[in-house]
Amino acid sequence: MYTQSLDIPGGLQPVDPANTDVSPEQARFDAVMQADGKIEAQDWMPDAYRKTLIRQISQHAHSEIIGMQPEGNWISRAPSLKRKAILLAKVQDEGGHGLYLYSAAETMGVSRDQLVEALHAGKAKYSSIFNYPTPTWADVGVIGWLVDGAAIMNQIPLCRCTYGPYARAMIRICKEESFHQRQGFDALLSMMRGTQAQKDMVQQAVDRWWWPVLMMFGPSDKDSIHSGQSFQWGIKRISNDDLRQKFVDATVEQAKILGVTLPDPDLKWNEERKAHDYGAIDWEAFWRVVNGDGPCNKERLATRVKAHEDGAWVREAALAHAAKQAARAKKQAA
Ligand code: 3HC
Repeated sequence: MYTQSLDIPGGLQPVDPANTDVSPEQARFDAVMQADGKIEAQDWMPDAYRKTLIRQISQHAHSEIIGMQPEGNWISRAPSLKRKAILLAKVQDEGGHGLYLYSAAETMGVSRDQLVEALHAGKAKYSSIFNYPTPTWADVGVIGWLVDGAAIMNQIPLCRCTYGPYARAMIRICKEESFHQRQGFDALLSMMRGTQAQKDMVQQAVDRWWWPVLMMFGPSDKDSIHSGQSFQWGIKRISNDDLRQKFVDATVEQAKILGVTLPDPDLKWNEERKAHDYGAIDWEAFWRVVNGDGPCNKERLATRVKAHEDGAWVREAALAHAAKQAARAKKQAA
């Protein structure tokens, strides 16, 4: 049965088999939703379902690709060969996630070029979290521990999304994200066993990232415009606020093991709720970053556009090679 974890407006309506107003395609779609089944690329789907998924999957793909930058800038400065190899693999994984996700979006009839163009024109969103700087090596560890940790919390439920190609892409992505989270925690643990200067560096990085990470889950449920419909369609399974709460509860325990303090004086266990209370999130700051006025928005977009332009010759060479192969195959077949 199709479930909904929260009391979000727009709950599921039962399918009425006697209702002849709906087209057979719509009736089939509704039945799949009702049975919590999967919609595949070749299946009929309502335009709004397609539009919502293209929006979400492409924003997700852009986040993975832009997300390569804050850590990528540390590859040449990692403190050891081992850390460099790990970081290199991680950043490459993020690039791969972007590619699976663009491919999943393409199954809905939009081209990767269109999506990338929208990003480069500043029309498409990507996650707020990648608009913050990484001034120290500890920031790289904190991205792994907290940013990837939050990403996993948000993305595990997406493995059960009703759109098959997205759900299947998410399974592989989540497996890789787990490695990313562990490597970040491990890097921080090493620093916390080191000198006082290293410990201070970790604490300062945690102070910088904690609040932006909580914002990653999106606006609070009452302000989330898409949640109601996304729940109905089995795209979203757990609400923004519920995921944020799960993340806070899990992270408090991990912070104790690391020996860092989470920078929130209001963070405390609430015995009645069996969950942690936490302080107010600065939503104005969140929307400023989402709308392009974060510390690194301009830099991130400019770097992305330049990388795309610098790579034009690779795309041209690949197309020329593919055309040559196709011509050869045609000649052989003739
Ligand atoms: N950053 C930027 N925009 C955000 C945001 C964030 N952290 N959170 C929400 N928004 C935007 C939404 O995209 C929406 O804008 P739109 O109408 O222009 O598309 C608006 O704020 C309202 O938010 P809603 O809650 O109504 O939107 P959703 O129902 O789509 O929920 C979401 C937002 C939870 C982020 C959901 O889209 C989602 O789960 N997306 C897939 C996961 C994803 O994209 N994660 C991004 C991080 S990827 C990552 O971290 C990479 C890893 O390698 C570390």
